Amino acid sequence: MKTLVVYSTLTGNTKKVAEAVASVLPECDLMPVEEAPASVEGYDFVALGYWVDRGLPDQKARTWLEGVKNAKLAFFGTLGAWPDSDHAKECMARGEAMALEPERGNAVYGSWLCQGKIDPKILEVMAKMAGNVHPMTPERRARIEEAAKHPDENDCLRAQEFFRTVLEKVK
Ligand SMILES: Cc1cc2nc3c(=O)[nH]c(=O)nc-3n(C[C@H](O)[C@H](O)[C@H](O)COP(=O)(O)O)c2cc1C
Repeated sequence: MKTLVVYSTLTGNTKKVAEAVASVLPECDLMPVEEAPASVEGYDFVALGYWVDRGLPDQKARTWLEGVKNAKLAFFGTLGAWPDSDHAKECMARGEAMALEPERGNAVYGSWLCQGKIDPKILEVMAKMAGNVHPMTPERRARIEEAAKHPDENDCLRAQEFFRTVLEKVK
């Protein structure tokens, strides 16, 4: 069984999870989305990692995903929000829906997300934005502070567990 892990990352959070995932997949090629092949032919399983950008898998991951056909795939990713939030669930559903567009011939085995530290520069820009759409509340501050600790060792272990389970279904 030959497997492929492709990841998109800005600040390294998703790369860290990608490396953990790749280490438990058989005969795995691991590559950043910028170097990923246009076709996934020859791979029995593909894992695509993205960072969440305004409620969606980031643009580079989406663009690469457009070319993925006849694949068995699953997603992983990192985001600032809580992984069990509606926001996270919607993002996962959107990613999966793109892969499952008719005529693509893909089979999706699920998605897994964890928190990832938010670039302080982005937080600064957001705070300065006129009509701040995300005002700072105690809840939001706690979430950002928690995100700053992730992805951690436990996230990597849980991602590995998710993909081990997925692999059993793919086989
Ligand atoms: C421009 C931008 C937009 C973002 N949008 C969201 C978002 O909609 N929801 C969310 O939960 N996190 C959002 N985040 C946080 C990132 O998804 C999170 O920090 C992620 O772990 C970054 O991953 P990376 O280090 O692999 O680039 C955003 C971050 C940036 C820079």
